Amino acid sequence: MAALKMQRLLVWGAKAVSSAPCQQPSSWLCGRANIRKASTYRAAVLREFGQDLQIKDMKRNKLKGNEVRVGVHSCGVNASDILMIENKYDRTLTVPFVPGFEVCGEVLEVGRDVTTMAVGSKVIGINKEGLGGYAEESIISEQNLWTVDHGVSVDHGAALVDTYATALIGLHRRARVHEGSTVLVTAAAGGLGLAAVDLASSVYKAKVIGVCGTEDKAELVRQKGAWAALKYNKKHIEAKVKEVTDGRGVDVVFDAIGGDAFHDCFSWVCHEGTVIVAGFASRVIPNIETGQLLPKAVSLVGLSLSHYQQANNAVYRQVVEDVIDMHEMGLIKPHISARFNIEETAEAFNFMRERKSTGKVILDLI
Ligand SMILES: NC(=O)c1ccc[n+]([C@@H]2O[C@H](COP(=O)([O-])OP(=O)(O)OC[C@H]3O[C@@H](n4cnc5c(N)ncnc54)[C@H](OP(=O)(O)O)[C@@H]3O)[C@@H](O)[C@H]2O)c1
Repeated sequence: MAALKMQRLLVWGAKAVSSAPCQQPSSWLCGRANIRKASTYRAAVLREFGQDLQIKDMKRNKLKGNEVRVGVHSCGVNASDILMIENKYDRTLTVPFVPGFEVCGEVLEVGRDVTTMAVGSKVIGINKEGLGGYAEESIISEQNLWTVDHGVSVDHGAALVDTYATALIGLHRRARVHEGSTVLVTAAAGGLGLAAVDLASSVYKAKVIGVCGTEDKAELVRQKGAWAALKYNKKHIEAKVKEVTDGRGVDVVFDAIGGDAFHDCFSWVCHEGTVIVAGFASRVIPNIETGQLLPKAVSLVGLSLSHYQQANNAVYRQVVEDVIDMHEMGLIKPHISARFNIEETAEAFNFMRERKSTGKVILDLI
């Protein structure tokens, strides 16, 4: 059964959102859908760029036909949330706004055109356009929601999709990682890096080398299935790559740091290997001479999950479904290093800025 489901997962056949059955409410809710009668809900609002978020009581807006009101239980705190509140994101935002785009919770109300979920369904939402996840309620269009089994914890639901779906597109769709492939992941204990390590080693059975900032983080990366994990040190990493690949170099480098260190990726990758540009944790976007690609016939692959939403929505919907299926089957599990409540967003941001987080950080809304 599990093998059959995996076979379906990895075929990546496009599946329209309307084909999903309407999920009925279940007892996990403890009736929150029924008990929320207040006319306002609390949200953490950014009023001025660079300032702390403030808690505000918000009035409910009416739903449009394709919209769903979600009672948010957990929201992922992501590196791009910090860029947004500092006005350094690659899209212009206007204050005031409520940050947060990765939520898990329950459906409180559906617009008249919604067909795939009902009041009480448990859902994961990714709402990079509308944001609004740091709040007790959020309005999200049906196209940006996925129903999940009631057995999925709300914290895992809010920690799963953005990083794992990004990593899955990079590793599977673009780099064709398979059993026996060798993959080096930078920032391997971060949200995106640890998802890449988990997928490459647990699902694809690749040999993964993770690099990260401390020995404690390296231990976590090993626990997630990496063949080897070590701290940043150019010489040591080169030696490890030689040892693990018999001197050939790795098939794939998955980089989420950018900056000066990015240039080292070309010394670790093998002939005809692939370097995936997945993020810029260093906040420095590196320039490269295209001549660097020639000696090893390297493929350079850029990747942005949010752009898949527009450019290839079928793949976007499917990859998220696949990640949810893999989690429900127990193949992958996001690591959560810290939880904060709605009054503690400043602490959550600092925890991440100071590189104390591993895997994901979560905001609890209930
Ligand atoms: N392409 C996409 O669609 C997509 C999706 C999600 C995220 N991203 C991007 O990917 C990057 C990483 O995201 P994430 O969720 O993994 O973030 P994260 O959880 O905050 O982890 C980032 C890690 O990068 C490491 N790092 C290395 N050099 C750093 C530096 N100079 N400054 C700060 N951190 C540094 C740190 O770990 P060590 O201390 O171990 O070095 C840090 O914990 C971000 O730029 C994010 O926007 C892209």
